[in-house]
Amino acid sequence: MPNVIITGATSGIGLAITRYFASESSSSTQNNKIAMLDINATTGPGIASSLAAEYPNAVIVFRKCDVSSWEEQAAVFRELYENEFEGKLDIVVANAGVSERGYTTLVEHEKGGADGPRKPDLSVLDINLSGVIFSVKLAIYYMDLKPAEEKERGLVICTASNAGLYALPTAPLYAASKFGVVGLVRSTALLVEDKGIRINALAPAVLGMLPLSPSPNILTRADIIGITETNIAPKELYQGMIITPMETLIKAVDGFAKGGREVNGQIAEVHGENVTVREAHGFVDGDTERNLGRFRGLGWA
Ligand SMILES: NC(=O)c1ccc[n+]([C@@H]2O[C@H](COP(=O)([O-])OP(=O)(O)OC[C@H]3O[C@@H](n4cnc5c(N)ncnc54)[C@H](O)[C@@H]3O)[C@@H](O)[C@H]2O)c1
Repeated sequence: MPNVIITGATSGIGLAITRYFASESSSSTQNNKIAMLDINATTGPGIASSLAAEYPNAVIVFRKCDVSSWEEQAAVFRELYENEFEGKLDIVVANAGVSERGYTTLVEHEKGGADGPRKPDLSVLDINLSGVIFSVKLAIYYMDLKPAEEKERGLVICTASNAGLYALPTAPLYAASKFGVVGLVRSTALLVEDKGIRINALAPAVLGMLPLSPSPNILTRADIIGITETNIAPKELYQGMIITPMETLIKAVDGFAKGGREVNGQIAEVHGENVTVREAHGFVDGDTERNLGRFRGLGWA
C-alpha cells in the first residue's frame, strides 16, 4: 500500500485528502503510511494523532514543514524517505496554499508615495508556486529511485484552483500562482511519463464549508470527508456563494489515485457534483504545433 506525503494537511482540502488515504487503508492488509506536512505545528501533531486513533489501519505522522523553504522541505522528505517510509515514496499531494489574504498588493494605492511604488508581496507565489515546485522536484527525485522495471513508480497531485483557469480580478498574484501550477503540471507530465510517474492537478471551485447540521448518526465515509471545513478565507467571503462539496474533490483524487498511465497531465476542475477534465488550449496554427514539438524532440529549451 502506498506511502503518501500531503502538504497543507492539517486543514481543509489537505485534511480531507488525508482522511481519504487513511480510509483507503481500512480494507487493506497492509498499512498506508501518511505523512501530514504543515506549517501549523501548534495543532498539527494533535490532529495527526487523533486521525491515527480514528484510522487504526493507517500509519499517520505529522511533520512541521514550511513548503516555501527548499531546505526545510528537502530535509523533511529525506528524513521520511530514509526512516518512516523505508526507501519507498509512492504519492505526493502538493496542496499547501494561501490566498492573497485580503486586498492585493499589486494595485494598492501608495500612501505618501515619495519613495515610489512598494515591492509587491510575493509570499503567495513563494508558497503556492515555489512550494509546489519544490514538492514536485522532491517527489520525482525519490520516486525515480525505484527500480526502473516497476511500471507504476509514483503519482503527484498538485492543488491548483479554478483561479488557474479563469481570471480572478481581486487576486491576480493568487491567480498567477495557480496558472503557474497548471502550466507546471501540463509540462512536467510529458517529461515524466517515460519514468512511469504521473502528475495531475485539482482545480477546485469554492469548496468545503461545514454543512449547517450534519447528523452524526447517519454519516457515511463520504459524509465524513465532506464535512471538512476549509480555512483559506474568512467565512463572510463565502456568503451567497455556491459551495462545492468536498466529496466531489475526493472523487477527483480517487480518479487520479486509481487511474492508469493515461491519467497524466490532467487538470480536474472540481465543481458542484462534477469533475471535468480541462483540456489544454489547441494550437493556434500548424507552425506553433511544429515548433513546440521540435522543442520537445530536442529535449532542451
Ligand atoms: N477552499 C477553496 O475554496 C479552494 C478553492 C480552490 C483551491 N484551493 C486550494 O486548496 C489548497 C488548500 O486550501 P484550503 O482551502 O484547504 O485552505 P486551508 O487554509 O483550510 O488549508 C491550507 C493548509 O495549508 C497550510 N499552510 C499554509 N501555508 C503553508 C506553508 N508555507 N507551508 C506548509 N503549510 C502551509 C495551512 O496551515 C493549512 O493547514 C490551497 O492550495 C488553495 O489555494 C482552495
